[in-house]
Amino acid sequence: MKAIAVYPGKANSTHLAELPKPALSDVPGGRGVLVRLLRCGVDGTDKEINAGEYGKAPEGCSFLVTGHENFGRVEAVGDHVTELRPGDYVVATVRRPGGSLYDLIGTYDMTTDDEYYERGINLRHGFLTEYYVDDPEYIVKVPDGLADVGVLVEPLSVPEKGILQAYEIQRRLRVWRPRKAAVLGAGTIGLFATMIMRLRGLDVTTVGLTPKPYLNSDLIEALGARYLSTRDVPLREAATAYGPFDIIYEATGYSPLVFEAMDVLGKNGVLVLASVTGGNRRVEVPADKINLGFVLGNKVMVGTVNGNREHFEAAVRDLALAAAQVPGWAARLLTHPVRGLENYRRLIDTLTTAGGAIKVFLEIASPSAAGSGE
Ligand code: BGC
Ligand code: ZN
Repeated sequence: MKAIAVYPGKANSTHLAELPKPALSDVPGGRGVLVRLLRCGVDGTDKEINAGEYGKAPEGCSFLVTGHENFGRVEAVGDHVTELRPGDYVVATVRRPGGSLYDLIGTYDMTTDDEYYERGINLRHGFLTEYYVDDPEYIVKVPDGLADVGVLVEPLSVPEKGILQAYEIQRRLRVWRPRKAAVLGAGTIGLFATMIMRLRGLDVTTVGLTPKPYLNSDLIEALGARYLSTRDVPLREAATAYGPFDIIYEATGYSPLVFEAMDVLGKNGVLVLASVTGGNRRVEVPADKINLGFVLGNKVMVGTVNGNREHFEAAVRDLALAAAQVPGWAARLLTHPVRGLENYRRLIDTLTTAGGAIKVFLEIASPSAAGSGE
């Protein structure tokens, strides 16, 4: 079967590879689930992998099959699988457990191992291929009614985890009733963080670079949130006008903004850092002022990466809630489809050059035309 792969560390090495079709028996104990890929999204991580700046091939292999934002349909299950059936729409999680205590209790997103295993990213083949086989532990069912937006479950799982972490942390306050939130960044993750917090009834101010109106600002306003361009309103002014912010979710990919966010975070507030920044930026910051604000204001800051099945399940629930509250909203994020694995070049070109793209994704078969599976 065909797969899209790279030679990690080598820039622009994306190519079509040929792999044997996986078998149910690849997972021991009759616990295999064979899934046919329907769609797979690509994001900034894939951009870095294609640039040769990130990612590793599985041990003993020269290439890495890419793709982690998967969505597919179950074709067959082993004799001892009760959780899933042929015909089910599914999304697989990305991380696979290592050896730390956190991995052993199923919270592999919290691993303390230096090496982590991520399908399509690090040391494990990904999903940009025709079929995969995995254990049901790592596969989350998506209801038929959400099939058209199922490819968004993985990217949504990332801010689901970050915001859940914020709420967990805030249990330090005997009572935490967050009212005002800021989201920094209006890309896919910023849009989703806005969606999650609007679904929880917060007053959300989302800031991006581009002056409105454009698709992303329209989508933010459609959620009942406020969109501001930092070109018009600096973060500090936004905080004075629409804060104090009880929660700030940082997803710009521009690390210097973190220190501004620390400065404008409200008392008892929580700042969630979610940008993967591989660069070498340096900035000068008002260290005393920021530190004093944190101390006197009992503030907290947390980093967050990946998600485990709990966060994928939260993503599925929120997509259902969004479908009920803002019908059609999530589907508007699916801006740039590319059809067929053989069009891998166009997929990468679209990812790296398309202006105005929210979600670039490969479509192998349309979810609605995938057949009833019965
Ligand atoms: C993926 C996460 C992953 C992170 C770091 C993101 O693009 O969605 O699953 O943990 O990259 O590799
Ligand atoms: Zn990703």
